[in-house]
Amino acid sequence: MRQSTLLIAVCIVLVCTALGSCTTDKPKGESDDSYTPQPMSRAEEPGNADKDAAGVDRGQKVFKQYCITCHMANGQGLSGVYPPLAGSEFLDDKQKTISAVANGLSGEIIVKGKKYSNVMPPIPGSYSNADIAAVVNYVMKKFGGEAWTTTEAEIAAIRKK
Ligand code: HEC
Repeated sequence: MRQSTLLIAVCIVLVCTALGSCTTDKPKGESDDSYTPQPMSRAEEPGNADKDAAGVDRGQKVFKQYCITCHMANGQGLSGVYPPLAGSEFLDDKQKTISAVANGLSGEIIVKGKKYSNVMPPIPGSYSNADIAAVVNYVMKKFGGEAWTTTEAEIAAIRKK
């Protein structure tokens, strides 16, 4: 018996506090409204300045940051050490090209009549699939006669995790 009266008392208290908060809600609601229109932080917007919708500018950026060290700005590489991209027949093979960039390449290859047997490391993990798609498209545009293009999804399918 004692327990049930206690329970009823607790219920009454709960209902009262619930009602109490309902009645005081209106003024609270008004003050809550003042927080909601937080302006979207501008810090998030400059990501758009990347202009990578077409993939080209981002691709050029990745090329200059990374590929250029070995393949050179003009895509000529370094004879006998780093194969050329400019006019390379290797670029005719889309799957192999994407895999080389995403996963690295080693072993003997022949590019423009010259043998190479060196190691290209996989692109660092800090580059996203979209970065890889962009740089591959940039390379194809600049050095591969625009024979084909690729997408972020195709990179994801070929890139080893
Ligand atoms: C550390 C040097 C290095 C970097 C950086 C590098 N590569 Fe390579 N790349 C090589 C080497 C070495 C080979 C040849 C590997 C072999 O002998 O099997 C190669 C081969 C290739 C090939 C196939 C052969 C050819 O010339 O067509 C492609 C395509 C290629 N790289 C594209 C890229 C792209 C695009 C980037 C930037 C995302 C890049 N590489 C960054 C060293 C590099």
